[in-house]
Formats: sequence, C-alpha cells, structure tokens
Amino acid sequence: MRSYYVAGNWKMHKTVGESVALAKALAAALADCGEKVMIAPAFTSLAAVAEALRGSKLILGAQNMAVEEQGAHTGEVSVLMLKDLGVRAVILGHSERRHTYGESDALVNRKVRLALAHGLEPILCVGETLEEREAGRLEEVVGTQLREGLAGVSPEDFKRVTIAYEPVWAIGTGKTATPEDADSVHAFCRKVLAELYGPSAAKSACIQYGGSVKPENAAALMAKPNIDGALVGGASLKPESFVPIAKFR
Ligand code: PGA
Repeated sequence: MRSYYVAGNWKMHKTVGESVALAKALAAALADCGEKVMIAPAFTSLAAVAEALRGSKLILGAQNMAVEEQGAHTGEVSVLMLKDLGVRAVILGHSERRHTYGESDALVNRKVRLALAHGLEPILCVGETLEEREAGRLEEVVGTQLREGLAGVSPEDFKRVTIAYEPVWAIGTGKTATPEDADSVHAFCRKVLAELYGPSAAKSACIQYGGSVKPENAAALMAKPNIDGALVGGASLKPESFVPIAKFR
C-alpha cells in the first residue's frame, strides 16, 4: 500500500500550554493512524511537546534551523539544540523564510546539508509566486529551488529528504491548486529529481503538497499519483481539521 506523510506546520502560533494540549489531543486521536505524521510547534514549545509525545508515533519537527552548528548567532536555534530535544524532522526553505526573511537557495542548501549531517530528516519547501507562475516561470523557479537546494546532497542522504511543493499563492489564502494542477508540478519535480538521483530514487521520493490543505480537499489531492502527503499550516492548529486530513483514507 502507498504510504503518505502528513506534516503540521504550526508557524508562530500557540503558547507552551496550548501546544501541549494540541499535541496530546493529536497523539490520542492519531494513535491508530497508519500514515507518517509530524507536527512542528514553535521552538519555545518543542521541549514540552517532546514530553507530551513520549510513547506516541507522532514525529516531532522544527520549523527552521540555524545555518551554523553553534557560535555567535543571536536569536538562532542550532541543529544540536533541536536534536537534544528529540526533534527528528525540520522544515527548511519555507516560503515565509524565503520571502519574508530573505533566505536564498544557497542558504537553504547549507541548512539541508547540515540537517542531514546530523541525522535529521529535512522537508525542503519549494514553490512559485503568482507573479512567477503568470510569467510562465514556474518550472524555472521550482527547478532552481530543487537543484540548488539539493546541491551536494548524496543519493544516500537524499533518501531522508522530503520535498514539499507549496505554491506561494496558495499558502494561507484559502486558494488551493487543483489536484490536477498540483499533480503536474509534482510530476515536474520528480523529473528534476530523476535528473539528479535517477528514476528509481525519483519514483520513491516523497513529495508533499502544501497550500490551504483542508479536510475537504485532502483526499482528492492525495489520490493523485505524484502527491505523497501534505504540509498543512492553518488546518494543523485544530484537531477537528488536522485529524481528518491525516486520516483522509
Ligand atoms: P496553509 O499553510 O495550510 O495555512 O496554507 C501551508 C504552509 O505554509 O506550510
């Protein structure tokens, strides 16, 4: 049976107490869920959520990570600190990091390689803006984000990388790419991955879709041959919406 990977990106939401309550509710409701499920609370809640998830199958993820291992980097959180808390996955190159905080493909690539060097599973986010899509530059933009984001990543390490295709115009806007539209971009991503790692690695790569995923559209998106899961923002903040997405089948 096909396996899916559903991740919740809580972004800058929830206090420690609220995060623990949500994590506990999700761990209970998803105890019998057959999919791989990850939740990424804010840095401040990671330690408490790690404790709340003890004994659960849910994976603890972070939303970002510093590009250096340690040192004079005021305000940053290092891979060593994340690992120390039991974090296993990390979202890198999210469009909010790229567009609001100016993260370049080169920087994202250094983070991806650092995460892999320390045994974490990165989710590398890619996606075009509406302007880029309308200018016919979708493949150029997404292709570059993939090629540069994965530069220097060995075929062996690539097995621990998840790709998340998140069209920027669909994030937090309520606008979702149609399943057909998303699937065709996922197919393009697989084509680029085949150039980089060969057809078999490209076929088994996990490519999540992200951008206004909701209980109402999750099943149709994940029914598509190239969509292997979801990276969920807004709808991951409540059990009522995240649980049915993770249990879409
Ligand atoms: P959204 O966010 O589900 O709220 O659109 C997705 C994301 O940014 O990962």
